[in-house]
Amino acid sequence: MAEALRVAIVGSGPAAFYAAGQLLASEDPRVEVDLIERLPTPWGLVRLGVAPDHPQLKSVSKAFEKIAQRPGFRFMGNVEVGRDVTHEELVERYDAVLYAVGSQTDRRLGIPGEDLPGSWAATELVAWYNGHPDFQDLEFDLGVERAVVVGNGNVALDVARMLALTEEELAPTDTTDRAIAAIVGSGIREILVLGRRGPVQAAWTSTELQEMGELAGADVLLDPAELELEPESEAELAASSNIVQRNVEILREFATRVPTGKPRTVRLRFRTSPVAILGEERVEAVEIVRNRLEADASGRVVAVATDEREVIPCGIVFRSVGYHGVPLPGLAYDERTGTIPNEAGRVLDVEGRRLPGVYAAGWIKRGPTGVIGTNKKDATETVELLLEDARNGALPDRAGDGIDELLDDRGVEVVMYMGWEAIDAAERGAGEPFGRPRVKLCTWDELLDAARVRPRGQTPRV
Ligand SMILES: Cc1cc2nc3c(=O)[nH]c(=O)nc-3n(C[C@H](O)[C@H](O)[C@H](O)COP(=O)(O)OP(=O)(O)OC[C@H]3O[C@@H](n4cnc5c(N)ncnc54)[C@H](O)[C@@H]3O)c2cc1C
Ligand SMILES: NC(=O)c1ccc[n+]([C@@H]2O[C@H](COP(=O)([O-])OP(=O)(O)OC[C@H]3O[C@@H](n4cnc5c(N)ncnc54)[C@H](OP(=O)(O)O)[C@@H]3O)[C@@H](O)[C@H]2O)c1
Repeated sequence: MAEALRVAIVGSGPAAFYAAGQLLASEDPRVEVDLIERLPTPWGLVRLGVAPDHPQLKSVSKAFEKIAQRPGFRFMGNVEVGRDVTHEELVERYDAVLYAVGSQTDRRLGIPGEDLPGSWAATELVAWYNGHPDFQDLEFDLGVERAVVVGNGNVALDVARMLALTEEELAPTDTTDRAIAAIVGSGIREILVLGRRGPVQAAWTSTELQEMGELAGADVLLDPAELELEPESEAELAASSNIVQRNVEILREFATRVPTGKPRTVRLRFRTSPVAILGEERVEAVEIVRNRLEADASGRVVAVATDEREVIPCGIVFRSVGYHGVPLPGLAYDERTGTIPNEAGRVLDVEGRRLPGVYAAGWIKRGPTGVIGTNKKDATETVELLLEDARNGALPDRAGDGIDELLDDRGVEVVMYMGWEAIDAAERGAGEPFGRPRVKLCTWDELLDAARVRPRGQTPRV
């Protein structure tokens, strides 16, 4: 039988797993996959981004578990490309390298006061309440009356909702215990969500928006005047998808609501942009400007600042205006889009020429938008080109065979799939008595210690 193609996939989120699934399904050529992940745990944002009160969405990991059982698959956790192994070393030792590293940081607002204590990226809060080991030392001061969330995407809704959940709503989830205690004990009375454009242009989806109106401990409120649409928005609404139409219907219903005395309020405001985050030592207020909406030359409805400003007192700000990629040493990087330059997944060098044998999928390929399933189509496109290149003899020759020896020489403690299964078992076991899906291990030490535990009689699967 012909020797299998050896592919390194960097990352273990949805894009990586969908790519692995497609590659392992190939018979000609046959493919073996090493999935290289910097954390000891797989699934990327499915474990560490998707809101913990949405367990049904996290359950996509069951499909990934099946992929991990296929012959030719190996998970190599606790290995960071750029730290433990370089891009050049991967290229030398694999027939192809596919980057699926996601978008590891946040987009900035670029306004004064953005770095004041109390001004946080949504990415930080999300990673904290989900138990990401790099974010557990953060101290969010939730003993404030008003929190402001900037942005109108689904992440902004996740953040606003998580801050509003009650103890009963949080108890059956895998939110970290520290985050549950902090949210339940928080002094927050109002969570104000600011959109720079209007209700028609909001990026959130209807199920997520509707949920905001069904919270046990928070009323959702919105001034009906916010829903008076300018002609440009009327035209956009008339031509828009069912999702947008439904969103506007939901908002119209929200606008009829009156406070029912729930302890917290989620208030939605549109056509407002923060221009400064104010405070001496820490966040005390956010200064916003009122926007008017108009169509630009391409017909896109854009926000244009007016002279009308307002200062809104608040103790904490979450900037939820999108994720952003980070550059990887040895690879070209487009700072504007936060992506690795590529043509349909074939990676390009700094001069725009194809880098043979190097590919990208998921958020690092197309930017930080799209739901979990979007990455399947995206990864399939990349894998088809990779396999086409393999069949056409367009992959470079490799000089070595995998990175095991190199990592061993460097003393890197690789967490293989069995190590992750040990972590998984420990977490599920800790959650079971409390009816929770799991209690996450959240520090590097806890995770690595758990990964070392082997059921009697078993040796690591390599
Ligand atoms: C807060 C949030 C909530 C979301 N909720 C939902 C939802 O409810 N439903 C839905 O359908 N979609 C949701 N999404 C979208 C979905 O999570 C993304 O579409 C998807 O995770 C992107 O997949 P990815 O594989 O490109 O990146 P990621 O999931 O981010 O995976 C990237 C992986 O690469 C690893 N990595 C990074 N750098 C390196 C390196 N140098 N070496 C080795 N490994 C590295 C990371 O640790 C990570 O595991 C959400 C997104 C966010 C941000
Ligand atoms: N439950 C789910 O299915 C779920 C949950 C979470 C995330 N996701 C997905 O994950 C992806 C990422 O979500 P996201 O919320 O991070 O990104 P997103 O959907 O791109 O939303 C970003 C929001 O930030 C706003 N924004 C950008 N720059 C701004 C600025 N300078 N000032 C004010 N507002 C600004 C955008 O407004 P403009 O439109 O005006 O640019 C938009 O409202 C999305 O595809 C999302 O659907 C899905």
